[in-house]
Amino acid sequence: MNLFNLRDFQDVAREKLDPVYYDYFASGAQDEITVQANEAAFRRLSLVPRVLRGVGEPDLGLTVLGQEASMPVLLAPTAFHRLAHPAGELETARAAAASGVIMVAAMLSTVAVEEVATSGATLWFQLYLQPDLGYTESLVRRAEAAGCKALVVTVDSPALGRNERKDRHDFYDLPPGMSCANLRDGDVRQVVLSPDFSWKDIEWLRGITSLPIVLKGILHPADAALAVEHGAAAVIVSNHGGRQLDTMPPTIDRLPLIADAVRGQVPLLLDGGVRRGTDIVKALAYGAQAVAIGRPVMWGLSVAGAEGVTKVLSLLRAELVNALTLCGVADLRAVPRELVVPPTG
Ligand code: FNR
Repeated sequence: MNLFNLRDFQDVAREKLDPVYYDYFASGAQDEITVQANEAAFRRLSLVPRVLRGVGEPDLGLTVLGQEASMPVLLAPTAFHRLAHPAGELETARAAAASGVIMVAAMLSTVAVEEVATSGATLWFQLYLQPDLGYTESLVRRAEAAGCKALVVTVDSPALGRNERKDRHDFYDLPPGMSCANLRDGDVRQVVLSPDFSWKDIEWLRGITSLPIVLKGILHPADAALAVEHGAAAVIVSNHGGRQLDTMPPTIDRLPLIADAVRGQVPLLLDGGVRRGTDIVKALAYGAQAVAIGRPVMWGLSVAGAEGVTKVLSLLRAELVNALTLCGVADLRAVPRELVVPPTG
């Protein structure tokens, strides 16, 4: 494959995909200010390496919430993988298994979680709480039975973000032959995003499962502190890849504030705009244990199925090794914050 970075994958995917599906993957809310800001914010940060450290080659292996991973990159939960590849989420999971990374399986998957689990990948399950708590509980039980190791509750979605590319294409239903395989009726329109959920519901969830609960979509340090107080096992600093509230700040800019509020009590993850090994180094320096990638996975899947996703991950892996080495750092847990220098003036 003549593809040298994640941007190349996006370019080939754009050529290959039905424009309606490309827009679904690429787009964000309204003016897509946050979509662009996520990547731009990484670009604005500089890395100041240390020299002559004699630290040797970096070791990328780590344990995240008790699960081993070959590198500090997870696959973020994204819906509807069969729009990108006929085998959908199972194909993505094969790449996760081959690469030794954790996949967060989306509730709005076009392949059932039990089938995704046959890949052998380490799975976490992403959940949108449903007002019918009995139904929510049944989804939790399915995720547990399928062997998922954590629940990732997306908390940034009390309503659906306003996506005008979706409006222009009137893309609100899956094509014939595809459905949301984890839902009782398979119909995405039956999913309820509700502004009624509160911390009480997180407590309820803690009471019905022994799986670690990860809260995804936190940008305010006070909410990160509340997450810890309410028993979250980890927090994902995320603005949903700019797909919910437009003009939310870029995630990397919020990370140091959140790290200061959480003070190491739980691991922090970050997603949004991670496209380069240097982006990962910046997130680690600012206090993340690992990052997650959303769109680049869809580009890899569109271009070449599991092989494409595997290639995306191996490019990031090589870039991360190179960037850490050039920074004079070998230990993922010891990336100093001072390595990152924000723009002056
Ligand atoms: C998403 N994301 C998402 N998040 C979630 O919690 N549940 C979901 O069903 C989806 N679906 C989804 C679909 C598509 C096409 C995209 C691009 C994203 C958000 C995702 O988990 C993650 O937060 C962002 O994608 C991270 O940003 P990047 O890496 O795409 O910039």
